[in-house]
Amino acid sequence: MRLATIPRYPLTTIPTPLIRARNLEAVLGRASPRIYLKRDDLTGLAFGGNKARKLEYLVADALATGATVLVTEGAVQSNHARMTAATAAIVGLRAVLVLDARNGDALAGNLLLDRLLAAEVRVVPDKEAREAVMQRIGDELEASGERPYVIPAGGSVPLGAVGYVAMVQEILAQLLEVSEAPSRLYCATSSLGTQAGLTVGACAFSAPFVVQGMAVEGSAQELSEVGALLATATADLLQLDATFTSRDFRVDDRFVGAGYGKASAEGLEAIRLLARTEAVLLDPAYTAKAMAGMLADIRAGAIDPHNAVVFLHTGGGPSLFPWGQALLEPVDTAPS
Ligand SMILES: Cc1ncc(COP(=O)(O)O)c(C=O)c1O
Repeated sequence: MRLATIPRYPLTTIPTPLIRARNLEAVLGRASPRIYLKRDDLTGLAFGGNKARKLEYLVADALATGATVLVTEGAVQSNHARMTAATAAIVGLRAVLVLDARNGDALAGNLLLDRLLAAEVRVVPDKEAREAVMQRIGDELEASGERPYVIPAGGSVPLGAVGYVAMVQEILAQLLEVSEAPSRLYCATSSLGTQAGLTVGACAFSAPFVVQGMAVEGSAQELSEVGALLATATADLLQLDATFTSRDFRVDDRFVGAGYGKASAEGLEAIRLLARTEAVLLDPAYTAKAMAGMLADIRAGAIDPHNAVVFLHTGGGPSLFPWGQALLEPVDTAPS
């Protein structure tokens, strides 16, 4: 496998901590396995999160191709967009972010940080409008003399997913130190790059765990199919002889709730539980739903209590702030 030869621009503070969540285990009681939190909310790039690991590979490629501007897209509270803006600031490129306001456009959280990081932000009303702008923005920038490097939503292309292949090596070393062989690793899944990288890494490095993605939008069937294709393409890029099918790409869509960017009652419960037991802060759109899924599995006895599990905390903290009071109430709506 050619992982070590793929150029990487260092942006992260790694390894991120792997911590045992003993207070959470105590609240869950006898049904609880040993729970470890892999703190990728602490990757260290402008408030951290999973995208930093992808951006290390993507920006190295952008620099190699002589890019002058990083372009990406997402919702207004996109963590990926904020970290792309941070990456551009560090390497001295411009950043153009095309963001849809389907869940509001309050100048808070990630959007505020995008502006502070000096990104050029174009806010459009919805996802369709965003796609339309993305189709022409490359040409527009080229016509004005720029060399754009377009990063698809979430950085979920094979080169971005490589960041999570490498992360498997990191966590396996940490698990060895604490003599653990967890049966599952849970993560939030959306544009699928994180889970694709983890799935390839788990295969390449013979990890003991199955990667369990928790959807934050979409259906499990569709996500598994698209995710398996991305995993196979990532393996190809690494010259790893492996093919993945939807059966190898486990996604649970029971905790999507009212949809992307909308809080769910179970997610809010997970946010409060992790805050008061571990002082770990989850976000309503991604990590809260993933944690809600893991908690439901534990409470239903789906995991052997003699075993260990890992929850990958993928970040999202800055998007907590626009929610305000809504975080303290059981609501199914986005912040106004
Ligand atoms: C906090 C957080 N967690 C999880 C994800 C999902 O990662 P992926 O898009 O690679 O599936 C994202 C993506 O935007 C995110 O911002």
